[in-house]
Amino acid sequence: MVTGRGLQQILRSWQSAGLSHMVRAVPLEPDSLSRSVTESVPSDGASSSPSPTAPSTATPSPPADDQTLMARKSSSAAALPELPVVQVAPEATQGGSRESRLSALAARVAQCQRCQELASTRTQTVFGVGSPNAKVMFIGEAPGADEDATGEPFVGRAGQLLTKIIVACGWTREEIYICNILRCRPPGNRAPSLVEARHCREYLDGQIAIIQPEYIVCWGTTAAQNLLGSEETIGKMRGRFFSHGKAKVLCTYHPSYLLRNPEAKKPVWEDMKLLLADMGLTPPTP
Ligand code: URA
Repeated sequence: MVTGRGLQQILRSWQSAGLSHMVRAVPLEPDSLSRSVTESVPSDGASSSPSPTAPSTATPSPPADDQTLMARKSSSAAALPELPVVQVAPEATQGGSRESRLSALAARVAQCQRCQELASTRTQTVFGVGSPNAKVMFIGEAPGADEDATGEPFVGRAGQLLTKIIVACGWTREEIYICNILRCRPPGNRAPSLVEARHCREYLDGQIAIIQPEYIVCWGTTAAQNLLGSEETIGKMRGRFFSHGKAKVLCTYHPSYLLRNPEAKKPVWEDMKLLLADMGLTPPTP
């Protein structure tokens, strides 16, 4: 049996062996060892962003759709967590152009059967689109119905809003790289489970390792929490930079959330201006 202390020792030894980051599938505190990692929290798709106007009182309770990881924290199931997957996609380290390595990884993803439910319900996998040399990578939550039908991330209503944000920044979709935490659509657009996110992490890490973006934007709670291994709300994570490997990471509200809460467009635009300024760019005048 792996104790909390034992798990921490294993993680520390991996760290000293040169592991720079990994999926923190569960927090490392001993009390988290009693938490189930197999449950998933239903949501209406990429809806896990809190109200940006939520009052910052001492211990605010998060809005219902900002509980992606937090809800799991309160589970009383007694299952021991599995150790995190720390797999390096071979495509990320092999020779060849970025384009060919991405194609090889995409071909493997297309055959993926790690998540039985997702593999049996998807129309196709949704790998990612954009430039293999992108300076900026966008990470969303998971494909929805439109993405499942077309094989391209962010093509539905939320995607159209994302494209408008991209254009407002002075970019085209083709010059950035867009992908998700998951490469398969969760049925009914429910939120990805921790296990699904962990299964897909090798692919995300592979894409990041091949593209080597200077900046990563996490759109919404699921992307931010999963990439950074955090349990913070998106409201607390937005507006500042984190680091992930060599990339600077900015987290902001998900476009689906903006569709339902247009007042959140203002903080998102603030975040985009922060990103552009850090890149030495200014948004084009409309
Ligand atoms: N479409 C995507 O590809 N990702 C999301 O997070 C939402 C819609």
